[in-house]
Amino acid sequence: MLLREEDLVARGKQRSVYQFPNEEQLLLKVTQQDSGLEQQPGLRGHFKSYLPYARYRHIFCEIDHDTKIQMRALLKGIRSPIAPTRGVISLNTTLGLMVKQISQKDGAVGLTLNELFAQDKFDEKALAALNEFAQSLFTLGVVAGDLHTKNIVWGDYNDELVPFIVDGYGDRNFIPLKTYIPWFRKRKIHKCLTHMAKQIGCQWLRSERVFILQSK
Ligand SMILES: Nc1ncnc2c1ncn2[C@@H]1O[C@H](COP(=O)(O)OP(=O)(O)OP(=O)(O)O)[C@@H](O)[C@H]1O
Ligand SMILES: [Mg+2]
Repeated sequence: MLLREEDLVARGKQRSVYQFPNEEQLLLKVTQQDSGLEQQPGLRGHFKSYLPYARYRHIFCEIDHDTKIQMRALLKGIRSPIAPTRGVISLNTTLGLMVKQISQKDGAVGLTLNELFAQDKFDEKALAALNEFAQSLFTLGVVAGDLHTKNIVWGDYNDELVPFIVDGYGDRNFIPLKTYIPWFRKRKIHKCLTHMAKQIGCQWLRSERVFILQSK
């Protein structure tokens, strides 16, 4: 499959995100070629060179975690806060992760929380949706190690604009402490949300697990 530059949606630090050819509501995340993997020092480099699977571990972790959270969400009757994954595709020299595109009502790619705030669209309704989203992270046991304003995308869901995590979820650690010990998992989420709150003019109240608008 040929990926065209004009289909590029975003280029992150680790991967490029493309519109899937002829599939409007599907995105393809392609890990950038990592030429110097073998030279990477330490235990991590050793693992990566001897276990080729390690290079794609993040893909596996994301699909695995998305599936588990969707199952829990179904049981609890709430929506999963993770942008749904759609499987893996083999490309010429690498693997790509297919994900559902989080879209605005008109079908355009959704805005990140960062963009929503910058465009002055972070209103009371968005704050309420963000609080519901934040609560669901705790209720569903989401492992999110890299939760920040650019990894959250707003999209249409049953005619409401709601946030989804698009990146940095799932437990990538060799010893998955956050998966098995809620205290570690929650501590990380509190830390990320506290940091995030400052970037969107809010304060994260740890005990109540809500964002409140920061009075100026
Ligand atoms: N499912 C999605 N729906 C809509 N937009 C998305 C989706 N996934 C990613 N994006 C857009 O692409 C950008 C980059 O995606 P992503 O964060 O997954 O890439 P990355 O390279 O892993 O990022 P990083 O720079 O954080 O390492 C996001 O900030 C968002 O704007
Ligand atoms: Mg990202």
